[in-house]
Amino acid sequence: MTLRSTLKQPFLNGVAKLPDFMQRAMLTPQLRRICIRVPLLRAVYSGCLRRHPFDLQFGIDTSGLVDAFALQRDQRLADQLSPYMGSQPTIIRRALDTLGDISGYTFVDIGCGKGRPLIVASEYPFAVALGYDISIDLVKTANENATAIARRFPARAPICAVVENVADMAVPCGNVVVFMFNPFGPELMTTLLHKLEEALANGAIQHLFVVYDNPVCGDVFDGSEHLKRWFATMFDYDQHELGFGPEEREGVVIWQSVSGARPDVFADRNRRITTKDKLSAAVE
Ligand SMILES: C[S@@+](CC[C@H](N)C(=O)[O-])C[C@H]1O[C@@H](n2cnc3c(N)ncnc32)[C@H](O)[C@@H]1O
Repeated sequence: MTLRSTLKQPFLNGVAKLPDFMQRAMLTPQLRRICIRVPLLRAVYSGCLRRHPFDLQFGIDTSGLVDAFALQRDQRLADQLSPYMGSQPTIIRRALDTLGDISGYTFVDIGCGKGRPLIVASEYPFAVALGYDISIDLVKTANENATAIARRFPARAPICAVVENVADMAVPCGNVVVFMFNPFGPELMTTLLHKLEEALANGAIQHLFVVYDNPVCGDVFDGSEHLKRWFATMFDYDQHELGFGPEEREGVVIWQSVSGARPDVFADRNRRITTKDKLSAAVE
């Protein structure tokens, strides 16, 4: 581990503790546009360290940015991981709204972090919302958030987060929606795809949607004979989310399984994914 990676997380934690008026001053659009290009400052200027409006609304903690080396001490594994940052709730909702009737499906967030997508999923008629993450601390926070949401909305689907490396995970069966917000690189993504393909081939999963927000490794799923495209677009951040994430818009691509497939409804579902770097992809 380098000196830079050792110091990075305490530095980010320090910035996260600054009062919001100071963070807002640092994040003025002109300053942000320049500073976000400086690798060392990119994390600070991502806006992820500010308390997201979603957290203020529900009294939970899904904000923050956790560096890959703070998530995982094994250097080889850490090299494949993306840092923790929460996805934008309005983008998750718009993606889930394309799916149609998902009553009784199991929602699974691969790399759930503090559980923001699990909480959004609990607004929908899923049977259960499951999250898997490699970080013990993030899963602990996700389950604390789930408890707070269950107290406030007792009729919602249960949420459960589990500490698990996706490479060791058993995939759920039945009808499943897998959600991901760029959790890791192509090697682990291929491992995940093989698990899903096996479950589809042996009938454990009957129908599957893969909802991939920021689809950096989207070509892995495009290469599968068991999947086909359902939807592809760039979604703008909602106005109130601008400045609370690294971008202003995000690519979302959705695949469904060939087995149990629903009729295609989105004409431009095959739009091309262009990957800028390991943290960012766009849909053209
Ligand atoms: C970009 S964050 C997304 C968090 C959450 N899904 C969201 O959208 O708000 C990616 C998450 O994937 C997790 N992750 C990375 N590699 C993993 C692995 N091999 N197994 C399980 N979780 C992993 C990280 O710990 C991190 O919390």
